[in-house]
Amino acid sequence: MKEKIERIRREIGEGMQGVTTRKQLFELKMQYLGKTGAISALSKGMRDLPPEERPAAGKLVGDVRAWAEEQFAAREEELKKEELAARYASEKIDVTMPAHLAGGGSVHPVSLVKQELVDIFAGMGFDVFEGPEIEQDYYNFQALNIPADHPARDMQDTFFIGGDFLLRWQTSSGQIRVMESKKPPIKVLSPGRVYRSDSDATHSPMFHQMEGLVVDKGITLNDLKGMLDEFARRMFSSETKTRLRPSYFPFTEPSVEVDLSCRNCGGKGCRVCKGTGWIEVLGAGMVNRRVLENCGIDPDVYTGFAFGMGLERIAMIKYGINDIRLLFENDVRFLKQFRD
Ligand code: PHE
Repeated sequence: MKEKIERIRREIGEGMQGVTTRKQLFELKMQYLGKTGAISALSKGMRDLPPEERPAAGKLVGDVRAWAEEQFAAREEELKKEELAARYASEKIDVTMPAHLAGGGSVHPVSLVKQELVDIFAGMGFDVFEGPEIEQDYYNFQALNIPADHPARDMQDTFFIGGDFLLRWQTSSGQIRVMESKKPPIKVLSPGRVYRSDSDATHSPMFHQMEGLVVDKGITLNDLKGMLDEFARRMFSSETKTRLRPSYFPFTEPSVEVDLSCRNCGGKGCRVCKGTGWIEVLGAGMVNRRVLENCGIDPDVYTGFAFGMGLERIAMIKYGINDIRLLFENDVRFLKQFRD
C-alpha cells in the first residue's frame, strides 16, 4: 500500500510537469481522483485488507487524497493566472497606433475667421447683433446718409428685390437697427452676408462682412486706432502695424481706409503688397452726425466710430489665398487645409 501511494505521488508530480492547460490538468486529475481513478481504487481496495490494518491504511489514503487535491488546486490557480496573462497580452490595444480617421468635415476658413474675430472683439467687450439680409432701402441707404437721389448710390451695385426691398449691400445697415433699439453706451459687432453685383478674382456677388460700432461720450478717432492696433496684433502677429488713410463714406466723417503692414515682407514692399508695404483691410470712420441724429442720438453729447471689414479678404490675407472664388467653389481638397 505504501509503495503504491509513493508511486502515485511520484506520478502525479511528474505528470503535473507536462501539463500546460486546464483541460490537460483536469484529465490528469481524473486519472487519480476520478471515480475510477487510482486513488479512488485505493479506497475501494481497503475492503480487501484485514480489519486491523484498515485505520492506518485509511489515514494514508486520506492523506494522499488531500495532498493530491491540494496539488491540483494549486496548479489550477497557476494555470488560470497564466491563461489570463496570455489573454491580456493578446487583447492588448496599442493606443499609440494612428487611428483611421473618419472622413469628417472641417470648418470653412471664412467661419474660422469669423469665430476668431468674434472672440477677439468679445474680449474687448463687444456684443454681437445679426441683422436681416433682406433689408429695406431706409436701413441700407437713407438712414446711413444716402438719400434716394444721392450720387453716393453710384458707388454701390445693389441687387434690388422690388418695392422697398433689396439684398443688403453692407452690414452698416445693422448700425441703424442697433442705434434705433439701444441708447449709448453701445459696443456692438455685426457679422453677416452682404450682396453686390460684382464678380472677379477679388470680388464675389455674396460675401461676408463684420461691422463694428462704438458710441459713447468722448469717443475719438484715437480710440478707433488703438482698437484696430489691438485687433491687428491679435489676428495676425505682434509686429503688425496699422495705418489710416483719408477716405470717403457717406455715413462716417471723417472716413478712413485702414491698411495693415504687409506680413509677407514686413513692410519693405513685395509682390503681395504690390511694392507698397501695406495691405488695405477695412473701411472705418467717425459716425456721421446725421446718422446719429437719424437714430435719435444727440451728436453734441455722443460720438462714435464704426468699421467694416470683409471676412473673405481677412481670410485671404491670413491664409495667403489669391482668388476669392476658391472660398466659394467648395472643393474639399482646398477646404480641408484649414482644419482648426
Ligand atoms: N460699409 C463699408 C463698406 O462696405 C465699410 C464701412 C463700415 C466704412 C463702417 C465705414 C464704417 O465698404
